[in-house]
Amino acid sequence: MIQKRENWGTKIGLILAMAGNALGLGNFLRFPVQAATNGGGSFMIPYFIALLLLGIPMVLVEWSIGRYGGKYGHGSLPGMFDVMWKNKIAKFVGMLGLFSSGAILIYYTYIESWSLAYSFFSITKTYFGLDSFGEMHTFLTSYQGANDKYFPSIGTAYIFLIITFAANFYVLYKGVAKGIEKLALIAMPLLLLFAIAIMIRVLTLGTPDPVNHPDWNVMAGFSYIWNPDFSLLSSAKVWLAAAGQIFFTLSIGMGTLSAYASYLKEKDDIALGSLATVSLNEFAEVILGASIAIPIAVAFFGLTTTQEIAAGGAFNLGFVSMPLIFQHLPFGDILGFMWFLLLFFAGITSSVAMAQPIISFLEEQFKVTKRKATAIVGGIAFLCINLVVIFFQYGFLDEMDYWSGTFTLVIIALIEVIIFAWIFGIDKGWNEINKGALIKIPSVYKFIIKYVTPLYLIVILVVWTYQDAIPILLLNDVSPEQVPYRWIARGLMIGIAIALLVMIGFAWKHNKSNQISQEKMEG
Ligand code: PHE
Repeated sequence: MIQKRENWGTKIGLILAMAGNALGLGNFLRFPVQAATNGGGSFMIPYFIALLLLGIPMVLVEWSIGRYGGKYGHGSLPGMFDVMWKNKIAKFVGMLGLFSSGAILIYYTYIESWSLAYSFFSITKTYFGLDSFGEMHTFLTSYQGANDKYFPSIGTAYIFLIITFAANFYVLYKGVAKGIEKLALIAMPLLLLFAIAIMIRVLTLGTPDPVNHPDWNVMAGFSYIWNPDFSLLSSAKVWLAAAGQIFFTLSIGMGTLSAYASYLKEKDDIALGSLATVSLNEFAEVILGASIAIPIAVAFFGLTTTQEIAAGGAFNLGFVSMPLIFQHLPFGDILGFMWFLLLFFAGITSSVAMAQPIISFLEEQFKVTKRKATAIVGGIAFLCINLVVIFFQYGFLDEMDYWSGTFTLVIIALIEVIIFAWIFGIDKGWNEINKGALIKIPSVYKFIIKYVTPLYLIVILVVWTYQDAIPILLLNDVSPEQVPYRWIARGLMIGIAIALLVMIGFAWKHNKSNQISQEKMEG
């Protein structure tokens, strides 16, 4: 080992931290919207196929890349790629890992801060009395600064943003075992408890208005999600959406799983740990996530309206329809408080994961202290986040989410699996996966990782580029007033990418330990 690195404190702490990384807003907000807008039951088939052929293999690959890179003192993808692939460009390719997690961090913490705010608005009943979809929606957009009907200025949103930011960077400053792991040990059990409680409440709702709307009930919501509908399976869009959701929810293709795995010890298990966290994430997604936002909305608004709500905007199910419903339930203030606080916990255990790769990059490559690294990343992220806040209504967040939170993930995953299975070599790779393993991964996964996953990713990338990315790149469906702001978002992302490339180039020129780790590998 080249330098002494931190390690996870306990096995349960590691599992909860990894699960905290994966479980996030994606499980409770993004998943219901994706399922509702892609035909419910017809979404679930490609979803599970993507889980088996993309999700599980990529999680194994990312954990292995991480533990291997950690052995050479690397906590982020540039260094990890560099020790696995003896090519001068490897480290520069690894830039993408810092880019996507860093860029997602910038908008994700903003949404996370809304959930903190809404848990406060629930317990203080701030929005109680706003009884129509329109009013509740105006409340949200007013909070976001688009009108001054309920909030005179964006100031309230800033207060919660600053609190959220401070909490995140305090945890990061405390470090891996004392910060991230401790947070997970508290936040994860609470989150699961709240989600289970809310799910039980939803299950006992039955048919809220049997006289006027006998078929608006929880069961109708469940049958929408769980009755497979094979007619939509020929739609490429549904397959892409399902793969995209698997990526986002399992935190694949962002370098964050590898970053966390770099703090494993050389002979720590990967097989059982990674499957345990995937299982926890899927439990939280298809059991808890699927049993809350959609069924409750179907019970109160009917199926057609629920689909319209979901299609109307990514945050409408979580931040408009849920608070509207809480007002009609006994102890709705407490339920609302729990719902939004669980979102906040889900969010913060993910956002610290997004910041971790770049913090360890600064620590390892520029030899700055943890304190300095945290301050630098926090400061820069906060500067950037102002653009997201101010230009929110012009699609700034959507633009960032598409490129850094959707498209790049597939590219990174493809690069990772090629480096792992073809350059590093599947035999060595398979050994890495099984070293220290507490369970045996079926050997069919050796084949899947080498052939199926890369092919699957290539197909997705080609179809995606053609169907989605090119029209989006050309801004075909964007209203003209948004165009300049979308370009500012792109400028920001390009700027971040260039800055990272320059830093990597500088680090490899001046940091001796990179050369040592290369020599060690050769020798
Ligand atoms: N997986 C997280 C979610 O479902 C999102 C995430 C993205 C986490 C990037 C870490 C890194 O919300």
